[in-house]
Amino acid sequence: ENIPLELHKVRVVQKLNLVPIERRLKALEEGGYNTFRLTTNDVFLDMLTDSGTNAMSDNQLAAMMQADDAYAGSQSFIRLQKAVEDVLGKKYFLPVHQGRAAENILSNAYIRKGSLIPMNYHFTTTMAHITQYGGKIAELLYDEGYVIDSDHPFKGNMNIEKLEDTIKTHGAKNIPFIRMEASTNLIGGQPFSIKNLRDVRAIADKYNIRVVLDASLLGENAYLVHLREDEFKESSLGDIIKTMTDLADIVYFSARKLSSSRGGGICTNDRDIYQELEALIPLFEGFLTYGGISVREIESMAVGLYETLDETMIRQSPDFIAYLVNSLDAYGISTVKPAGVLGAHVNAMEICDHIPQKEYPAGALAAALYLISGVRGMERGTLSNQRDEYGNETLADMELVRLAVPRRVFTLSQIKYVADRMAWLYDNRKLIGGLRFVYEPPVLRFFMGGLEPV
Ligand code: F0G
Repeated sequence: ENIPLELHKVRVVQKLNLVPIERRLKALEEGGYNTFRLTTNDVFLDMLTDSGTNAMSDNQLAAMMQADDAYAGSQSFIRLQKAVEDVLGKKYFLPVHQGRAAENILSNAYIRKGSLIPMNYHFTTTMAHITQYGGKIAELLYDEGYVIDSDHPFKGNMNIEKLEDTIKTHGAKNIPFIRMEASTNLIGGQPFSIKNLRDVRAIADKYNIRVVLDASLLGENAYLVHLREDEFKESSLGDIIKTMTDLADIVYFSARKLSSSRGGGICTNDRDIYQELEALIPLFEGFLTYGGISVREIESMAVGLYETLDETMIRQSPDFIAYLVNSLDAYGISTVKPAGVLGAHVNAMEICDHIPQKEYPAGALAAALYLISGVRGMERGTLSNQRDEYGNETLADMELVRLAVPRRVFTLSQIKYVADRMAWLYDNRKLIGGLRFVYEPPVLRFFMGGLEPV
């Protein structure tokens, strides 16, 4: 057995609640069978997301106490600027309150009606912002990116031939940027290779288009490059990260994932880009030296960015995920493979093959898992998609339940509990039924939508 080993110790703990199944059923009914609408009083292991839920280090907490409160010119911001330059290699930094705020700024600046954004794959908030400003997206993964059970090391790679075809068909002038997402979230936290990013860069240069890197899960993508890409076997995480960010004109991130538990940012080495975006920060976020982030968080982001370079920190979550994926796999439960980052991704399309996609098999599986275990996962399938412009459902490529493993939060016995409960549910999977909406919000419906059993 390949047991992952923690190279940290637990010094602050929080008591968890494992409420009886009768209460869990009630909580599901009250929350419209939507795990986003459960409250943590009713949740045992919260595997909804790693966003804002990673454990903080002693050094981050210590730094937070030294924060310099100032509307303008805070020393905390200057420390963060330096960390961004040291770790991400970009000298101009614009703070924003979280990742989607960066997407709003970039979309506001660059997206017009008729714009097309080629990307390896969309993220929910990214797509919502691009379409909000009248743009469209083109998802250009290779076919292997959609294969659930695979041993391809870089399923997040962009299909270079398709990228060039898309540019030729649509016209470079209608493509304000190409977006690459590190550790591609919605296909199961799957990385791209640096070779692929170099190829994207070459095409971008040929047609004079900017490359934007979503770096929210950059550290983990770098760790998998280190493990899986021969050229980088001996490289440090710091060198790998810089190699990636050097290939992008603009890097943005959610600091709820990268570095800390709040905040976000956009950075670049291009003075013109900086100036184009600069004016939007005070409009949407706050003054340029805080951008809607508290100074305490700014301090912890700075420390957290440096900690991203520490392999003992960055490997903990992917190693635990690999352990969980291996356990589920050994039981015959289909998951996204190879194990990615952020969480284990269970294949609801196969486990709930008796539930039609229009009845949200992944949503149903997430609700059922909560009911029988108190474990809260997240639906990542048709329910998380937006309807097309005519109001029709867009069936997702994959129906996944994501069991997020935030960094340094769970113990191995808790991970074993999850595997054990998933195994029970798998044996009893025919008990799970589909769901339908009773309340469907028009935008990002999966967050607050309410459902009921069909
Ligand atoms: N980009 C990626 C790749 C993300 O995973 C997220 C958030 C964002 C952008 C938006 O950042 O939440 O700070 O506004 N992902 C979270 C998740 C919500 O649960 O996977 P945000």
